[in-house]
Formats: sequence, structure tokens, C-alpha cells
Amino acid sequence: MLTVSDLGDLRGKRVLVRSDLNVPLDGKKIADDGRVRASVPTIKRLADAGARVLVTAHLGRPDGVPNPDYSLEPVAERLGELLGSPVLFAGDTVGVQAHRISAALQDGQVAVLENVRFNEGETSKDDAVRGAFADELAALADVFVSDGFGVVHRKQASVYDVATRLPAAVGGLVEAEVTVLECLTESPERPYTVVLGGSKVSDKLGVIDNLLSKADNLLIGGGMVFTFLKAQGHEVGKSLLEDDQLDVARGYIEQAEAQGVRLVLPTDIVVAPAFADADATTVAADAIPSDQLGLDIGPDSAAAFADVIRGSKTVFWNGPMGVFEMASFAEGTRSVAQALTEVDGLSVVGGGDSAAAVRQLGFDDAQFGHISTGGGASLEYLEGKTLPGLDILEESTDRNADA
Ligand code: 3PG
Ligand code: MG
Repeated sequence: MLTVSDLGDLRGKRVLVRSDLNVPLDGKKIADDGRVRASVPTIKRLADAGARVLVTAHLGRPDGVPNPDYSLEPVAERLGELLGSPVLFAGDTVGVQAHRISAALQDGQVAVLENVRFNEGETSKDDAVRGAFADELAALADVFVSDGFGVVHRKQASVYDVATRLPAAVGGLVEAEVTVLECLTESPERPYTVVLGGSKVSDKLGVIDNLLSKADNLLIGGGMVFTFLKAQGHEVGKSLLEDDQLDVARGYIEQAEAQGVRLVLPTDIVVAPAFADADATTVAADAIPSDQLGLDIGPDSAAAFADVIRGSKTVFWNGPMGVFEMASFAEGTRSVAQALTEVDGLSVVGGGDSAAAVRQLGFDDAQFGHISTGGGASLEYLEGKTLPGLDILEESTDRNADA
């Protein structure tokens, strides 16, 4: 892949950068600016090199229609604060304003284009529709830098198609993320432990499949654990359950045993009568009362998970252990996060949600080996899938070499 240094003298060049600025918003307020911070070094590097930087990104899933609730304007403002210099904002993505700003940009200036997903061409499944929109994006710039790691698993115009229309390089954030994920897939120091949480088994099928032949320990918490507990024959009360995944979960339990992978499920669960903080109690994982629902792993499980994590040389964690937003159900996630900070080796937190969780619980990014900005992207990488946004950069390097 071409890197930013391969792009030569950038003075006066208009560089379109795809960043992942998809941050959680609380009204117009940014609840966690981790992805904006992670995007700064590449943007700053380009601006310092004298490029005229146009940042394109999405926020949420506005489905191809402009919607003020998903405007990137507050994010552009935050980016300016972090860069320490004002950032221009175009109220459209490829329209009159975008063109006006692209033409007026001075060397070293940065502008953010309005949410790329306000345009239906961005996410269209029709190659021609997506391609036509990518043509419009490409018309704004001279070169493309792909730095939105969190979206490289999406075959979308600003991630994939635009890279075939401009000289394309990989940004520093994507490079750094891929380097860490390569360590996890190619030569993890052992013991290698994977901790998975989050609500659905069905979201994690591919990754569990793949990791069952690679990891030494697989720890499972979060909402998806109840499907595993039920698969073992336990009643789970009113807990989240994916009935259609029971056979799959059973299969994983058997496969783990056959392959000598230690699959660790919680032995105790924090339950409550409703999805609320009140009346939380801890019960054995095989004795969840029929009128209660599980909302976190219990203290014994949290301690056991922490022991396994601390004894590992490589740890990858994706997905909270419980409803960490509520104090009564945050301890499982906190214990796992704390244990990751104590790993003598490589600890990786994967995913926007898990990253936001550790920050919300008061941890500092620097306490972990790496906090990935990509949830789906890092999981798909670990599944061994081809990520369109990376694949196209390799192809574009081949094209340049052939030319
Ligand atoms: C994310 O939040 O995981 C990335 O920004 C990708 O967003 P998407 O899942 O809406 O494509
Ligand atoms: Mg997501």
C-alpha cells in the first residue's frame, strides 16, 4: 500500500481524507471524542506538509437523506479545537459549498465536508450509483488518504470507490490499527485470551468461529452469555436470549472442548426484576429466577475473568460485560478493563462501544496497549475477512505499479 510519505510534495495539493468521526452524540454534545482525537495525527501531518485538507466522514446512519440531527458541524468544531486552528465546514458533501471551500482552501488549511451519508450514493449497493457519487467526491481533490479504520469493512463510496479514482494512500491510523491486528492474527504471544461481550451472539459468530482455533482462552460475558447458559441447559429468566442461536452456542461449547480452548462462562450473574438499577442482586449462573433478568457478570466471575486476563500475554477485548451505563451493572466491565491495564504484554480494546465504556469508567487510553477505533472493522479483520477499504488500497498500489 502507498503511505502518506509516498505521495511526495503535498504543498498546494488538495487531499481528500476519509476519517471515522462517527462519535456518540448527546444532543449536539460529543459524548466521547476518542475517534476525533485518533483522526488528528494524520490530518495534522497533511496540513503541516502544506496540503489543502478536505475531511470526509459519516455520523450515524441517516440513510442517504440530509438530517440536521446527524450533522458533522459539532464534530468539525471539536476537530478544530484539537488541531488548535479553526476548521472550515461545508454544509454539503459534494455540492456548491464543498466546491467553494475546496477552491478557497489555502495550503495547510483543513475543512470538513457534511456527513457523507446524507448522499444515497455513499452506501448504495448499486456499483454504478456508488461510483457516480465517488466521481463527485474525487472531483474535489487531487489525492485520497484512507484513514477511517472504523469503516474499512464497508464497501462504500468514500471508503472504497473513491480509492480507484484518485491516487490513494493509507493513513497513519489505519496503518497503526492494522499493525496491531496483524500481531493478534499472525503471532500472538501466549497465552492469548479473547474476551467477548455485547448483546448478541449472532454479531460475533464469525469471530468466535475463527478464534476457536487461535485463542487459548475465550471469556464470554455481556447479553450474549445467556444464550450460552441456556445452551448448557440453565434457565435464564427474563434475560436476553437468542433462541435461534442455541444450537450454534452448543456447537461452540463442544468445539472449544475438542480444540482444547478454555471457554470460560460466568458462574454468577447480577440480576434485577427490570432493566433498571433498583433491587439488583447476585445469583448463581445456573439459578437465575424466572422473574429476573441478568444485567452483568457477578463478582466471582469478574474475579475469575480478571485472573485469566492478567495471566495472559496477549488479550483482545470487545464488548461490555454488562449494562455498564448503570452503576449496579458496571463492575464486570470495570474488572475486565482493570485487568487489561495490568497485562504484561499486549492488551487491545476493540470497538467504539468498548472504547467509550473504558473512558466512561474513568480509565485512560494510555493504560491499554491499544484502543481500536473500529468495532465491526476489528472483528471482521480477526475473522479473517477481506476488508474492502484495505483491499482496494492494495489493488490501487498494484495499479500504480503496473502503470
Ligand atoms: C462504527 O461506528 O462502527 C463505524 O463508524 C461504522 O459505522 P457503521 O456501522 O454505521 O457503518
Ligand atoms: Mg457500529
